[in-house]
Amino acid sequence: PGKSLKDRFGRTATYLRLSVTDRCDLRCTYCMTENMTFLPRKDLLSLEELYRLTTICMEHGVRKIRLTGGEPLVRKNVISLFENLSRHLENGDLDEVTLTTNGSLLSRYAKRLAECGVRRVNVSLDTLSADRYRTITRWGNINRVFAGLDAARDAGLHIKLNAVAQKGAFEHELFDLIRFAHDRDMDLTLIEEMPLGGVASQRGRSFLSLANLRKRLEDHWTVEPLTESTGGPAKYVRLRETGGKLGFITPMSCDFCSDCNRIRLSCTGELYTCMGQEGGLSLRDQLRQSDGNEKVAELVREKVFLKPRGHDFHIDGGSVNGISRAMSTLGG
Ligand code: GTP
Ligand code: 5AD
Ligand code: SF4
Repeated sequence: PGKSLKDRFGRTATYLRLSVTDRCDLRCTYCMTENMTFLPRKDLLSLEELYRLTTICMEHGVRKIRLTGGEPLVRKNVISLFENLSRHLENGDLDEVTLTTNGSLLSRYAKRLAECGVRRVNVSLDTLSADRYRTITRWGNINRVFAGLDAARDAGLHIKLNAVAQKGAFEHELFDLIRFAHDRDMDLTLIEEMPLGGVASQRGRSFLSLANLRKRLEDHWTVEPLTESTGGPAKYVRLRETGGKLGFITPMSCDFCSDCNRIRLSCTGELYTCMGQEGGLSLRDQLRQSDGNEKVAELVREKVFLKPRGHDFHIDGGSVNGISRAMSTLGG
């Protein structure tokens, strides 16, 4: 006890987002190009190595772990990692283990995830239309997501839907999406599009500011701000008419980074202290060089201390400042 991951701006990292694969069974247009190339499998850390890195973070005060991807459920044997982490839920070292998934494999895994102590899942769903879903994901079948949501609910998991806000059809469908989520006791979080990877330069055209959208929502619903949070940059409100929760992730339009409590590890063992910055620190060689953790721990502490004040993204009309790393290498 006593060790913690503090940065020079006074923030403490207590939340690790762990990307277990860069692969995905879909190719969402805001995330990947259609002919995305993935990392050679030999570059990936083993699940045991990823687990070892998480234990180092836990020894430094990380209390919450979220598995991301790519799509975390396409990683072979990923349940073994959840099983290892579940022991730390049981003994009180961790408050939460969870995941962000596209839902396509959730019907297969929901029950086992719940057995590993997972209580909630975040599922990406930007539309209720099968056609639009296929267009956005390039070939996905929305019925698999619906089946996944049912399985998650049956397994007792609390569900938060994530929708990336975009100009156009999304705006017209938003009310239905809110109704869909809240009628089923699911939360819904709206996310501003960020310019990452090979698709970054196209983000200017579809970008929709949530600061403006929120004002429009207020014309139709009674929006009650909630002070409770998951201790991160998302801001939540309750809609009085539905009773449901709506979240806003606004990296582009709002001051967003001052409460950041997160660090990120890629599936190759690179530590990132901000998703909107280049420059991860590879922990792999140090990890493999010794069975002791102290050297790696020192690298982690130093890297977190130097965490930047905020991200480097910028979208203003046609002018886009993005970063070249793909979203799927860190899973958001
Ligand atoms: P909880 O607060 O734990 O419920 O999770 P969350 O909503 O932060 O997690 P989730 O994985 O559902 O995040 C959804 C998306 O929000 C991510 O995929 C990112 O696109 C974005 N996001 C989450 N955290 C950050 C962050 O720290 N910085 C930025 N720029 N975007 C973030
Ligand atoms: N900007 C914002 N969110 C994105 N996601 C994927 N790409 C982007 C982007 N460019 C979201 C997905 C999913 C999560 C993993 O990341 O919708 O909810
Ligand atoms: Fe896959 Fe998620 Fe990227 Fe879509 S946003 S391609 S589901 S990793």
